[in-house]
Amino acid sequence: MKDAFRENPKRRSAGAPPLFHTACVLKLAADLPADPMKDFRQMKQRGEKITALTAYDYPTARLLDESGIDIILVGDSLGMVVLGCQDTTGVTLEGMLHHTRAVARGVKQALLVADLPIHTYDTPKQAVETASKFVEVGAQAVKLEGGVSHVAQIQAITKAGIPFMAHIGMLPQSVREEGGYRIKGRTQSEAEALLADARAVEEAGAFSVVLEIVVADIAKQITKAIGIPTIGIGSGKHCDGQILVTHDLIGLFPWFTPKFVSPEARVADEIRRAASAFIEQTRAGT
Ligand code: KIV
Repeated sequence: MKDAFRENPKRRSAGAPPLFHTACVLKLAADLPADPMKDFRQMKQRGEKITALTAYDYPTARLLDESGIDIILVGDSLGMVVLGCQDTTGVTLEGMLHHTRAVARGVKQALLVADLPIHTYDTPKQAVETASKFVEVGAQAVKLEGGVSHVAQIQAITKAGIPFMAHIGMLPQSVREEGGYRIKGRTQSEAEALLADARAVEEAGAFSVVLEIVVADIAKQITKAIGIPTIGIGSGKHCDGQILVTHDLIGLFPWFTPKFVSPEARVADEIRRAASAFIEQTRAGT
């Protein structure tokens, strides 16, 4: 993982000369940003909760980064909260690369993870090619949806030296086949399948796994059963960390808020207020 990070273009663009002697090494180390590829396993062992939020543009990424977030995800949720689509299935590789490039410019300390969009990782070879494109535009890790079903893709990505975050439970890219967003782990067989997914992604080399809308008690059991951290979304408080779509957290997508989110801000109201004030003042000629 660390080797892949060292090869990251963000590091290369730090203007690093070849490391010829110790003084040079020390000077360079002092100039480089903190290593965002923290040891997430150790955070889990210490009981330190991992924090993650999504960003799709430069200012949001920079604000989150400056707030001290551990992980910034360029999620394909951008299809819904930025592009106004019904679900994430219309998100393209080109679109995701474009947004990842912008986010990368604003991130200095957090780990930048990017989502591989639907049908860009149908084979292990395609998964590595797609993941490499994200690394080229500044992502430091990638995520794709699937557990046991995608072990070959995950192994190929990690073998290529690209840090990988897994995503199991409710898989938004499969929402059409599933016929909606449904909590996972309600039945014994679903709970067993989730545990098998979690073990499989750990074994395949993932450094963490997102659990999306999983029954809280099952999320707790998975968290205890594996060595890599679980990052929950709508999966209860016992996960090793939490992730949210930033638009949900800050109230920037007021037309729909998932049940498990308590917004910490009402940004949509502020935008409406500022726009109304501007319209009023302009029309009044003041
Ligand atoms: O696309 C996304 O934002 C995600 C998170 C909800 C985990 O995958």
